[in-house]
Amino acid sequence: MADELELIRSRIDIVDLVSERVALKRAGKNWKGLCPFHDDRNPSFNVSPDLGIFKCWSCGATGDLFTWVMRTENVEFPEALRMLAKRAGVELKQGSQGLSATQREQWTEAMDLAQGFFRRSLEKSEQAKDYLSRRGIGGDVADSWGLGYAPDVGEALVAELKRHQIPLAEAQKLFLVDGDAVRGFQDRFRGRITFPTHDDRGHLVAFGGRTIGDAIPKYINSSDTPLYSKRRVLYGMHRAKEAMRQSGHGVLVEGYLDVIACHRAGIESAVASLGTALSEDHCRLLKRWCDRVTILYDADEAGQKAADRAQELLKTAGIAVELALMPDGQDPDTLLRTIGPSGVLQAVERSLKPTDFKLLQLRKRMSPTEDGFWKEAVAIIAAEPEVNELARHIDALCSEYPYVRDKVRARDILDRQVRGLRKGHRRSGGARKEIKAVVAMTGPKMDAAERTILAAFCNQDCRSAAWEAVADHELFSHATARAIAETLTTTFQQAPAGEPAVWLGVIADEEIRQRLAELASDPLLRIDPVVLSDAINQLRKRREERSVAALREGANEPDLAQIQAKLQALKGGFSTPK
Ligand code: UTP
Ligand code: MN
Repeated sequence: MADELELIRSRIDIVDLVSERVALKRAGKNWKGLCPFHDDRNPSFNVSPDLGIFKCWSCGATGDLFTWVMRTENVEFPEALRMLAKRAGVELKQGSQGLSATQREQWTEAMDLAQGFFRRSLEKSEQAKDYLSRRGIGGDVADSWGLGYAPDVGEALVAELKRHQIPLAEAQKLFLVDGDAVRGFQDRFRGRITFPTHDDRGHLVAFGGRTIGDAIPKYINSSDTPLYSKRRVLYGMHRAKEAMRQSGHGVLVEGYLDVIACHRAGIESAVASLGTALSEDHCRLLKRWCDRVTILYDADEAGQKAADRAQELLKTAGIAVELALMPDGQDPDTLLRTIGPSGVLQAVERSLKPTDFKLLQLRKRMSPTEDGFWKEAVAIIAAEPEVNELARHIDALCSEYPYVRDKVRARDILDRQVRGLRKGHRRSGGARKEIKAVVAMTGPKMDAAERTILAAFCNQDCRSAAWEAVADHELFSHATARAIAETLTTTFQQAPAGEPAVWLGVIADEEIRQRLAELASDPLLRIDPVVLSDAINQLRKRREERSVAALREGANEPDLAQIQAKLQALKGGFSTPK
């Protein structure tokens, strides 16, 4: 084996090999280019023909010919060896590849023979061609995917294999025929459209078959064979991987025809796990080519269950997941036929992140007017792993929160519930980082001016001056401050008299009562009329800035004079307190 490696190294120039993927420029003895293994802006990737190695000074990727092929073709060493041996014209001794060459060659020959036979049979069968055309599959699509037909004869493929001296016992190992030497052998697939299945490198490894009649089961999938491991192979992967690599995104569907439909609709990163649940190996395979996957399974219960499982596995493999809701009773194949490519594209485009998906499912089951809805909604949101997403979910729901008309207030309540639940999760072993992030998510603390005004409201001498500001809710930008101001003005017609102890009890919301009591007794807040009027001015100025910024942002206004008039009106609207 060492001799073979040396021979291959001596016959292949690593600069030639790398140049097929990376534009290299000469730099002294070496060659330089942009590193294909990281997002390289300056050429930090070097190839040394003398040493026969490549090395990236930035990301540290390094290796020889074999490493290069393993990394760029995503293959293990034996396959890289085979590929380079072929390129170098080096014949590998048996044993170099794990399997004896003759054995593997015979299996490959049997598979190729079967494929040729199925293809010719489809050509000859009007019935099978009719079936395909009824399903919207023309000759071009059948050719492109190598679809064939296994005639309903019983021993048609058996005869073909015999003619080519393929031992039927070997063909049986490949799931082509069934039986034994005593009883004789029969074809596995009869009266079925055949779907050749390839591994990610494009080697034909198995067949699936769909009945063109009512035979049960509807689909027959190959079991594991010496060439095929259903845990490791995804239908369509060899055609999808390039699109996956380019976009970083893959699409996971249920069946053969769904893969074909997606590709026809322009979604060339679609693959399927075929009559078997998605496995960890499938996820690892996907992870080699993309880091985001959209699951496009049927909307029925089985489909949703499978999607749930797949989602967990993909997440564990470090793949971000999105879920697409198929319209009831549809799959990508029927969408393509009824609506056209746009139907399939839309389904993928409308895919949702897992939490949004769960919330949508909840809405389908329950209405926000039902009590149980909020308990579940809060639990779903609290389980969201992306802290940055929490505010968005809460925002989307708060206007429906029952009994609370005021959005800001509802947002606050939801926010508190979600945080409470997350705190619970954290106590049972969560991460510190998450705690910090949650704090960051709740936004800046109520600022000093806002606190001053609310505290002044609790001070008998300043209350009527503070009341004016409190009644002007929009002055407050912090959600809690604004909620307190709104509660105060809805609870009281005018500034109440007496110590807070007298009127606090009238406020229904316990949290707001507590916040006000805290503010009233905050020793760090100095309250007097001058400080208060400063605070109010500050908030008014900030509101003005917010309005101006908003106006500028929405400055599709054609007329400058109009903007100026608006700005003027805004300024004029403020009454400056003495
Ligand atoms: P479906 O029953 O949703 O079929 O099974 P389909 O893909 O829409 O097929 P058509 O449109 O009726 O032809 C989804 C997938 O589950 C697997 C197949 O991979 C199928 O594509 N399956 C289904 C089986 O393995 N065996 C079966 O009997 C049925
Ligand atoms: Mn279908």
